[in-house]
Amino acid sequence: MSDNYEKNKGVTILAIESSCDDTSAAVCVDGVMLSNIIANQKVHAKYGGVVPELASRAHIQNIVPTVDEALKAANTSLQDVDAIAFTQSPGLIGSLLVGVQFAKSVSLALDKPLIAVHHMQAHVLANLIDQENRPSFPFLCLTVSGGHTQIVLAKSPLELEVIGETIDDAAGEAFDKCAKLLGLPYPGGPLVDKYAKEGNPMAFKFAEPQMPDLQFSFSGLKTSVLYFLQKQEEGFIERNLADLCASIQYTIINILLKKLNKAVLQTGIKQVCIAGGVSANSGLRNGLLEMGKRYGWKTFIPAFQYCTDNAAMIAITAHYKYQAGLFAGLDASPSARAEW
Ligand code: KG4
Ligand code: ZN
Repeated sequence: MSDNYEKNKGVTILAIESSCDDTSAAVCVDGVMLSNIIANQKVHAKYGGVVPELASRAHIQNIVPTVDEALKAANTSLQDVDAIAFTQSPGLIGSLLVGVQFAKSVSLALDKPLIAVHHMQAHVLANLIDQENRPSFPFLCLTVSGGHTQIVLAKSPLELEVIGETIDDAAGEAFDKCAKLLGLPYPGGPLVDKYAKEGNPMAFKFAEPQMPDLQFSFSGLKTSVLYFLQKQEEGFIERNLADLCASIQYTIINILLKKLNKAVLQTGIKQVCIAGGVSANSGLRNGLLEMGKRYGWKTFIPAFQYCTDNAAMIAITAHYKYQAGLFAGLDASPSARAEW
């Protein structure tokens, strides 16, 4: 193979995501996504939440076949990989450790550089995966996942600033905890979304918190749903499941979109994105589009497969870090919590 061919083939990045309960691998060439394979872990459903020890064991079982599949789907091989990216933080430490150690082993074996990626930055940059319809800088991103709820001001791919955050539960957690009160299995968010489609969002009213600035709070909602349900007769949940889901979803979305509007007014930035697992919610997606139409925002929503945890978002972030020459050493270690 000539040097010229090598130079022209583009930079191939293999990315690995293992921060929670999804094992994922993706391959991109010059930022163009060629594959994104996600192995979901079913083992947690019967426990009502992610069991960290089971998650890391499942990552160990899944990681080799998932990386293999990602390379095959991208029609490439390990020999073509120019850099290996991994999620460094935040997440479950045992889960992160599997991805970090795997990435380091591949890096050592191939003698190729490592790129460490922050999971929450990657959620934001999932909005840049789409080649045709991506936001230009600066933009705002409402990042809503199982562990975080943030409003991020993105000045460039690697200049991201959190300008608003939750002081307690995350939006995804609020979905999951309310779903649990309704007797739905974990993770309840997607099920609330499904049942809400048949229900009346105005059927029940739940209090919205009055939080200052761009702060969020969701722990009160779960308590108010709990107290409300405790006052009802037997069979109430079964008879009203769709209305309950629609009303809870409406309240969460209202809290999120009101703050997002406040952030737009404060910053004057009208390019608005959403990201993270809860951005898969049909009500939030429609709500954002409506807000966009009403207030003249340009809105962006990642493709469904890039909303919940995935390695493509790690790959796109690594693409920008590669360009900036930001590499990690073999001493890189995972961190459960980490500042940006
Ligand atoms: O980003 P993500 O996959 O993992 C974290 O980084 O936490 O987000 C997972 C969260 C869970 O709380 C899940 O219930 C929620 O995203 N979620 C949804 C939907 N799909 C996933 N919540 C509401 N509606 C959905 N369609
Ligand atoms: Zn996530």
